[in-house]
Amino acid sequence: MLKKLLLFGIPLALIVIGIFFFMDNEQTKQSSPQVSKEVTPEPTVDISPTTSSKTYSADDVKEHGVKTDCWMIIDGKVYDVTDFIPQHPGGAIIAKGCGIDATTLFNERPDTQLGEHPQSARDQLEKFYIGDLKE
Ligand code: HEM
Repeated sequence: MLKKLLLFGIPLALIVIGIFFFMDNEQTKQSSPQVSKEVTPEPTVDISPTTSSKTYSADDVKEHGVKTDCWMIIDGKVYDVTDFIPQHPGGAIIAKGCGIDATTLFNERPDTQLGEHPQSARDQLEKFYIGDLKE
């Protein structure tokens, strides 16, 4: 009788223990915290305005007073005309305006009888605009 009990009892006990062990293992798997995915931060987009025009003082302009580095003020606006100097139809006389307020020089071309530049010249000026004169 005892032999029978041991023969069936022990394997049965082992099976039951095995089932409990298996169930417990499944439960811990489910309740274990999920491995959190590493969150890559979204790239930040710079939305600051890029259209704001710069301002320069008369002293800033003065620092660019040679024909190889030539800024000039015309009607309250600052222009960097360095690249245009070799192409100026009026020649080197344009360099007189480098580093200063050249409004009168541009508008009246005082050394000539020509008076103000034609509209086409004013239109070209826009290409060289870099900012406004600081009040
Ligand atoms: C200090 C400033 C400047 C002075 C004194 C000056 C002077 C002159 C002079 C004397 C002429 C006549 C050339 C001729 O017909 O024989 C001329 C023509 C011209 N200048 Fe200037 N200039 C100045 C600045 C500029 C600037 C900054 C521009 C740039 C946009 C410019 C654009 C022109 C153009 C396009 C012409 C030809 C005009 C035409 O077709 O009649 N000038 N300039």
